[in-house]
Amino acid sequence: MNQRQLAQQQFEQSGENLVVGSLQACPLSPEQLAQTTADCDYVVETFNSGLTAEVFRIRVDGRDYTLKKKRPTARVSNLDGHYSFLNEVQRRFDIQQQKDDPSSAADFECIVSTVYADYHLGIIVSDWIEGEPVKQVSSSLLSQLFSTLSACERIGLFEWDLCAGNLLVDEQHKLWLFDFGYMYRFEPLNELNSNGLDAPLFNFCERFETRFLSGWLLDKELSHSEALAVFKNVKHEALRVLLQQLRWLKNNGASVAVMQAKQALIDTYQQALESQTKLESLFQLEMFRSHVLDIEDDLDGKSCTPITIKRVETVLNTITEHYAELKQQGGLFYHNQGKTQQALIDAYRGKLDLVIQYQLNG
Ligand SMILES: Nc1ncnc2c1ncn2[C@@H]1O[C@H](COP(=O)(O)OP(=O)(O)OP(=O)(O)O)[C@@H](O)[C@H]1O
Ligand SMILES: [Mg+2]
Repeated sequence: MNQRQLAQQQFEQSGENLVVGSLQACPLSPEQLAQTTADCDYVVETFNSGLTAEVFRIRVDGRDYTLKKKRPTARVSNLDGHYSFLNEVQRRFDIQQQKDDPSSAADFECIVSTVYADYHLGIIVSDWIEGEPVKQVSSSLLSQLFSTLSACERIGLFEWDLCAGNLLVDEQHKLWLFDFGYMYRFEPLNELNSNGLDAPLFNFCERFETRFLSGWLLDKELSHSEALAVFKNVKHEALRVLLQQLRWLKNNGASVAVMQAKQALIDTYQQALESQTKLESLFQLEMFRSHVLDIEDDLDGKSCTPITIKRVETVLNTITEHYAELKQQGGLFYHNQGKTQQALIDAYRGKLDLVIQYQLNG
């Protein structure tokens, strides 16, 4: 167990409760909300996809809210899944403090307001967001997303799960974030993410590319030049936020290691934005990285989709055609490190079989 999991286990065993918001704002009694089923007359819509929670759209006195209700037993067996509801209530508490403070509220306006949450009762009530999944990766979307993630990082929160199901865009093209089951604490001045300095691979732009963009590009079947243009814009917007981050880190006495890592990212993105060859090469390297990471997630959870198949096919193609480049640029990390081209091809052919075997509702 890592430190966070230990602390969450201690909290769970202590019998202590955590409540966010005030009772007056709660649309129905918390006890009644905790008993909610899809059959209740105030339930308008039910989202049953969650592993640790059920989500209901409810309507009380003409106003809509979202009720996230903890499942009695999570459908995931791993520890992070087990603690994800507690984790979300903890993060809602942290973020709501910022939203309630006029000096920081604007930085967190893309994050849904928590109306009321009670960890022991297993309920989180939020405003209902009238929105749709992300359809276009526009500059406005990227700038809202990256600025919000950066504001979270300044208060020591790193978001891991920027998947399509966790992003909504409303009619005014405003982005909304609302699922914080996998947003973890870290020390922004001394660490790069909630793994400390051990995993510099992970940053806000990488998280977006891995959990969302890389799959979205495969799904949309954009041409190479269209995909490259989207990627360039992602880097452009990420660079702007990284430059702000670096300034903030400097002003607040961040460690040399953190500033060097940020500077390295800035240099890489800047060079890619200035040279088409470097842009092409970064696109290949980072999509490879994102596919490799997301394939492992899908295999772990036995939750593969047709996109996972496409991811493995892309990885196989890249290994076959650009092995030397990948190796030289540090694209072969973790389980792929030190492997020969043939060993990698064999490994990913094996994964392809598994991915086909683990197709959801297949
Ligand atoms: N405040 C909200 N407004 C509108 N829709 C919401 C809101 N919160 C959640 N939803 C909808 O419900 C879905 C599931 O919510 P959420 O992502 O919070 O939980 P989950 O991912 O299903 O649960 P778990 O964390 O257990 O996997 C979202 O993809 C979104 O469509
Ligand atoms: Mg979710």
